[in-house]
Amino acid sequence: MAQQIKLGLIGLGVIGQMHLKMAATMPHVAITAVCDVQSQLVESTAQQFNIPHRYTDADALLANEEIDGVVIALPANLRTAIGVRAFAKGKHVLTEKPVAMNAAEVRALIAARDASPIPNRIGACCSCRYHGLPSAKVVKDFVATGALGNLRVARVRAVLAAPPTPPFNPPPIWRLRKDLNGGGILMNWGQYDCDYMFGVLGWRLQPQRVMARTFTNIEAYATYAHPSSDAETHIVAFVDCIDQQNGKPVVFSYERGEFTSSASEEIWQIIGDKGTLRLWMKEKKGKQLWFDHPSDKGTVTELLWEGDEDWTQQHGMPVSDFGAAIRDQRPPTTSLEQSLVIQSMFDAMYASAESGDSCRVDSNNTNHLIKLE
Ligand SMILES: NC(=O)c1ccc[n+]([C@@H]2O[C@H](COP(=O)([O-])OP(=O)(O)OC[C@H]3O[C@@H](n4cnc5c(N)ncnc54)[C@H](O)[C@@H]3O)[C@@H](O)[C@H]2O)c1
Repeated sequence: MAQQIKLGLIGLGVIGQMHLKMAATMPHVAITAVCDVQSQLVESTAQQFNIPHRYTDADALLANEEIDGVVIALPANLRTAIGVRAFAKGKHVLTEKPVAMNAAEVRALIAARDASPIPNRIGACCSCRYHGLPSAKVVKDFVATGALGNLRVARVRAVLAAPPTPPFNPPPIWRLRKDLNGGGILMNWGQYDCDYMFGVLGWRLQPQRVMARTFTNIEAYATYAHPSSDAETHIVAFVDCIDQQNGKPVVFSYERGEFTSSASEEIWQIIGDKGTLRLWMKEKKGKQLWFDHPSDKGTVTELLWEGDEDWTQQHGMPVSDFGAAIRDQRPPTTSLEQSLVIQSMFDAMYASAESGDSCRVDSNNTNHLIKLE
């Protein structure tokens, strides 16, 4: 039988259960240890998925020498310390998204990985989820052909109406709390949006300066969030970037909102001087990608790709990619250095929103091209 990578899963909540379900379908990965502070949940989950090693203490799981790597599916404020200790025990580490609470924590993870007693440890983040969709590869390959010419604007506007009833019952306490999640919608959805957009562009955008505004939940949908929530449900940002391929400026224009007073509108575009790609990140049946470009008849539109996608393709992706990266000793789809680019931009967005002024993105955090995993 081909080599099976043995993983431990820490955190058996909503997303931990999803990882177990998806990993059970993967021939190259076996989750052989689980951990949660809720002992009954550990027992019922281990029985359901036939898992031999069961823990209520993350350090006891990390001491298990059979395990190659760990998947940390805890709320963000609990993850980095465990990730650092996992690297110290020589494990590979996949963290849920957001990658960490802030850029300083991502740097701590990188330092711990590099100091691990076993060299070449993989550090990966689940923010790569949507790169597992077939259309993501089409977009990335098309951008890499240079058909868009010099890039001008990468644009994401995803402003969503509220559903008729609260989507989470009860709303999770961590989801819109600065002290538990590092922030709100930017940390929850921005991690996917930006990992996707920067990733399909081949990680060539280097964010320089940010102007951002954040807004908290509106009164009409107070019950949609936990009463202790203090983080934003809506963010708008203008990010001045450098295209590292040619040194030219590119604007990253970003807006994401949930439970808003607006009808839903989602626009994804990559605009260059030779063409524009219109895309869509999330899985979709009948998804279409469009290429608009100049011609002797004015700007014309071509259908670039069309296909059906489903949610299993993105939910299985992070663990599958992590297992394959360990097995093949290759970098994961999103490295910690790449996550640091995004998180450094987020830190600047929050600093800008707080101060009301534009903020420079710390370039020490973003020279990810120099040392890839
Ligand atoms: N819920 C989702 O759909 C979803 C999707 C993608 C990513 N995520 C991310 O995954 C993370 C977790 O989200 P969730 O919805 O699964 O949360 P959750 O609250 O459902 O689950 C968290 C689990 O961690 C356990 N736990 C808490 N402290 C622990 C500790 N010290 N040691 C071991 N176990 C501990 C809890 O008992 C709980 O079972 C979040 O950062 C979130 O952004 C969630």
